Amino acid sequence: MDTGTPMPTRRHFMQLSSSAAALAAQAPKVSANDKIQIATIGAGGMGSGDTRLALQIPGVSLVAVADLYDGRLARAKEVWGNHLFTTRDYREILSRKDIDAVIIGTPDHYHSQISVDAMNAGKDVYCEKPMVQKIEQGYDVVNAQKKTGRILQVGSQYASSLCFLKAKDLLASGAIGELNMVEAWLDRNSAVGAWQYSIPPDASPQTVDWERYTAITRKRAWDAKRFFRWRNYQDYGTGVAGDLYVHLLTGLHVVTGSLGPTRVYSTGGLRFWKDERDVADVTLALVDYPKTERHPEFTFSLRVNFASGGSTESFGIRFVGSEGVMNVSMNSVTISRHPREAQPGYTIGTFPQSVQEAFLKEYRAKYPEQIPTADAMRPDREDVYNAPREHSAHLEHHRNFYAAVRSRKPFFEDAVFGLRTAGPALLCNHSYFERKICEWDPNQLKRTA
Ligand SMILES: NC(=O)c1ccc[n+]([C@@H]2O[C@H](COP(=O)([O-])OP(=O)(O)OC[C@H]3O[C@@H](n4cnc5c(N)ncnc54)[C@H](O)[C@@H]3O)[C@@H](O)[C@H]2O)c1
Repeated sequence: MDTGTPMPTRRHFMQLSSSAAALAAQAPKVSANDKIQIATIGAGGMGSGDTRLALQIPGVSLVAVADLYDGRLARAKEVWGNHLFTTRDYREILSRKDIDAVIIGTPDHYHSQISVDAMNAGKDVYCEKPMVQKIEQGYDVVNAQKKTGRILQVGSQYASSLCFLKAKDLLASGAIGELNMVEAWLDRNSAVGAWQYSIPPDASPQTVDWERYTAITRKRAWDAKRFFRWRNYQDYGTGVAGDLYVHLLTGLHVVTGSLGPTRVYSTGGLRFWKDERDVADVTLALVDYPKTERHPEFTFSLRVNFASGGSTESFGIRFVGSEGVMNVSMNSVTISRHPREAQPGYTIGTFPQSVQEAFLKEYRAKYPEQIPTADAMRPDREDVYNAPREHSAHLEHHRNFYAAVRSRKPFFEDAVFGLRTAGPALLCNHSYFERKICEWDPNQLKRTA
């Protein structure tokens, strides 16, 4: 009987996933002699954040920092000590014998060149996402990793999130039935979120190595905005798609095991932040994934809105299956199930009375136990997994990197994985700027149309 009162949702709390537990169990014991000496190339927001996390890992120490803004080199010494070797030229870091691994936290246009140079110089690499600024550069990075046998891990920490690993197990166990679509969004509503970063008052061609910054891209006159707010410009960044879709694609690939999509369409525009940027601040993309052994075909929709009118940041990824919906965040996984209606539907009312009766008789003979109830129309059950409070996917991602450096067994987010996510993300940019549907071969990792 429908009382009009919503039934309370039943919530069940789940255990740590087997993938995540297995990963945690792999964490190697570190001896005092097991030292890894690192350098950071690009010590801005993320390079500094990555370095802080890396230094929490036993045995890891920071030897050198390269950056093109002198203020960041001075700050590195303030934070990590005067003993640090600092330079504007990352090649001076690569030529040092006392450095085992580098963190690359530069703007996107330098990722592939520094990664390749570093691996050729015998260094392991933790490179921030997206692995490359242009699809073709992905092949150079993949080949360099193959040729040198170095460890390269891309810095999209979703790959080390316990929640994404839990979601992977749940999807594989059939918890939401047959996957048919995935929706993801990463919205923001603040100036910093919209990439209007602070410009230091001492910024000038004397304190910034503008020549080096523009050496591998279009030459332009000094412009502090193009240096400190680089994400807003195609010359140095990768727009919303390369920057943020790549995280969503990483999460998706972890959960589904997909190798990549076949078709990509993206649209949007510069709607609010009209501050000279040459990339969009609102974008939507529709991406088709082919059938694999693990899942049927499905469509992935992605959205970023930098003037979302909502909270400072909103992130979500929602896996939709025939038997339920799985919401994944960095802290939890929630599965909601909503039983399908067990009645023939209103259209029988349009049949003549005698036909309706015959239809219902036949229907009830076929589905005798399915009596429609009010409960069947409401979410009936929610299974919730909460990651341990102390879990940080980002710290875990660094643990996985240094474990790989020690064991010489690469973590799965390697150069090929990096191209599998950066490629389709960058293809979204092609689709947006060319105003067309683009095609991708997920096995060959290349654009086909
Ligand atoms: N994983 C994440 O969640 C996450 C979050 C933020 C940023 N990122 C990534 O981290 C990277 C850096 O972003 P950010 O926000 O820290 O930018 P940022 O502007 O704060 O820092 C970039 C730094 O690189 C320096 N730099 C530029 N060219 C260089 C070069 N050739 N050699 C040495 N240093 C150079 C700049 O002076 C600056 O200090 C980007 O690729 C970005 O996509 C990742």
